[in-house]
Amino acid sequence: MIRYDRLPLIQGLLDYAKEKNARFHMPGHRNEETIEELSILKENLYSFDVTEVEGTDNLHYPEEIIARSQALLTRTMGSKESLYCVNGSTASNYAMIFGLLKREETVLVQRNCHQSIYHAISLLDLKPAYLLPEMVEEFNLPSFITLNELMRVHQANPKAQAVILTSPTYHGMVTDIAPLSEYCDRHGLYLLVDEAHGAHFPFSPLLPDSSLKSGAHASSVSFHKTLPSLTQGSVLNLSEKLTEEERYRIRHYHRVFQSSSPSYPLLASMEMARYYMEEKGDASYQSLLKEITALKSNLMKIPGIRILGKKEVPLFDETRLVINAPFPGAEMDRILREEHQIQCEMTEGKNLIFILTPFDKKEDLARIAHALKAISRKNEKRWSEAMEEHPSHHSMRMQVPIRRFSENEVLHLSMEEVLLKEASGRICAEKVVPYPPGIPLLLPGEVITEEILDALDAYYAENANILKSGSREKDRIFVLKENPAL
Ligand SMILES: Cc1ncc(COP(=O)(O)O)c(C=O)c1O
Repeated sequence: MIRYDRLPLIQGLLDYAKEKNARFHMPGHRNEETIEELSILKENLYSFDVTEVEGTDNLHYPEEIIARSQALLTRTMGSKESLYCVNGSTASNYAMIFGLLKREETVLVQRNCHQSIYHAISLLDLKPAYLLPEMVEEFNLPSFITLNELMRVHQANPKAQAVILTSPTYHGMVTDIAPLSEYCDRHGLYLLVDEAHGAHFPFSPLLPDSSLKSGAHASSVSFHKTLPSLTQGSVLNLSEKLTEEERYRIRHYHRVFQSSSPSYPLLASMEMARYYMEEKGDASYQSLLKEITALKSNLMKIPGIRILGKKEVPLFDETRLVINAPFPGAEMDRILREEHQIQCEMTEGKNLIFILTPFDKKEDLARIAHALKAISRKNEKRWSEAMEEHPSHHSMRMQVPIRRFSENEVLHLSMEEVLLKEASGRICAEKVVPYPPGIPLLLPGEVITEEILDALDAYYAENANILKSGSREKDRIFVLKENPAL
């Protein structure tokens, strides 16, 4: 008999599965029983879990089955070369940045990028100059980067070697890459795009163009976020604009940042995701998008509900459902899970984010509108009072951080722990990252301002999950001991 009390991890996963929630979170392969093609993977999970022997090729030096699979992938992604990556887009991001940039070079970086970009910057001691995205006021969300913003920051930092963008964002907001790419080509800048949330774009003409199609030099896409791949599956796309030498260097770092024992079940699941999408993607997205239109129009009938869309951002991934509701997101999340067996991807302020895929059942999609209607009715008085409040708890403006030291320099300086309320003006010595979405509020070496402290207070008031690399206490923060700014 299995002693589950000694299997806390397995017990936890079984408990979650038992809840039978309609899942609108990663990975993209929910309701896998409806995807016939995945049965080959399920039935062979353990027999596919092999190592590099005769006939199974080698991810790091592919010549046989993996090379053939990557050739098919390359054709579908419309790249010069596409590489499987088993360590997520985290490693794909590292590989493209390390392959193309030298230590201490200047890069123009979208401030609302994922922490993996910040980690690469820190490891290479790159000098970041930040591109500030447009804000969507009603949702208090950072969105896309304009050509004007790129030109402004580039003119102030003419030595920059590369531009690093995030498109789409976690919330489905897409930057119009083509004009930025023309600008980068004219000025000898690499354009690297973290497209972790846009792996599905090449599979339907109804979705935005992929960044590679729009002129990026390289992009990383997480297959597991929106496609029916197992978690950690990512693809690194390299464009024909890169020389063989540049691609050689990227391939080198692609090996450096990945396990020497890559998972074959994971690789197989990425191959199957590509195959499935080639066969059925177009038709599946056509019907999914129709269902989403119907769902959104039902949601819009509920008083107090706002839906993010093309009205706010011209280029938008309609499969990302971002709902702004009168109640705090954390409370909505709890009610949806406990009372309606619906689990969204994440909440942030008063926004709820759902990742929708062709594998969602029609009846599950309908449940979202049903549940929200029920919550608004059950709490009618409080709901209508809350509708009068600002749609967002706080309105943190994305701002250019004041950066005094690099992360590496900070790691070699003395630090101390102080109360947050006494930290204004000090230099931060740790990472402070609301997660999700994983966009740093403060990085080591940046000056702590009153505005940032207010934003942090607001996040805590919403019960947001704040990852801190130093202090374990909510009301404290690691700062540099000697404060050269004072
Ligand atoms: C914008 C963005 N880039 C990169 C990543 C990292 O991707 P992965 O989880 O595949 O390593 C994430 C993860 O959430 C992300 O949101």
